[in-house]
Amino acid sequence: MRKKIAAGNWKMNKTFGEAVELTKGIVEAKIPEDVTVILGVPAIYLNKINGMAKSNERVFVSAQNAHQELRGAYTGEISVEMLKSIDIPYVILGHSERREYNCETPELLKKKVRIALDNNLEVIFCCGESLDIRKANKQEEYVRNQIKGSLSELSDEDMSHVTIAYEPIWAIGTGETASPQQAQDMHKSIRAYLNELFGNEIAADTAILYGGSVKPANAKEIFGQDDVDGGLVGGASMIADSFIEIINSFS
Ligand code: PGA
Repeated sequence: MRKKIAAGNWKMNKTFGEAVELTKGIVEAKIPEDVTVILGVPAIYLNKINGMAKSNERVFVSAQNAHQELRGAYTGEISVEMLKSIDIPYVILGHSERREYNCETPELLKKKVRIALDNNLEVIFCCGESLDIRKANKQEEYVRNQIKGSLSELSDEDMSHVTIAYEPIWAIGTGETASPQQAQDMHKSIRAYLNELFGNEIAADTAILYGGSVKPANAKEIFGQDDVDGGLVGGASMIADSFIEIINSFS
């Protein structure tokens, strides 16, 4: 059985007080027993929010990035070892914003995924195409190459700690969502590719989340698709009521 996951990505938003307030609203909510909630928290608040999340057994905390080296002279960076030392269970890697603004390539992400898994973090690996690639109808090939470049050498055991988030760049923060059918088509293609790379069991067990303007009004229909196992939500995850509605959108 694949997990049902509602993950939030706060990106570079919220003051400390606002982050605590938002977390309070989420951990005090009743979350369906079969749903896993993950909060993608700015690094500076991870320790505090992780402590708060422990009051609700369905809520977990994720970093939004981690460095590819374990430690060293990398001013301003955060390592997987640091995350582990404060008991953070998840890390988001390869978000399109980091690929674009921080030049994260598939090769670099391969190293980040490897070191995160070696240090017992659960990885949420993001992929997704730009509008130009979608217009050229090359999206499936493009996303497969992203997966190939960063994940193809992982073992089955590694893959049991990886969740994939498909996030078409043209739908992130734009208010434009992929249609439920577009999401399903891509998720099915990703699952078929996981089957090619790792076999049927991994393909069947890997959760694939959709991200890109998920909101209460569209979550039910998107999460209802056969190969969609939940969402990675930006804007709508930063308002407690709307995120709770999304959390309750699984059938
Ligand atoms: P959005 O962001 O929900 O605001 O479109 C999604 C994401 O970037 O993870």
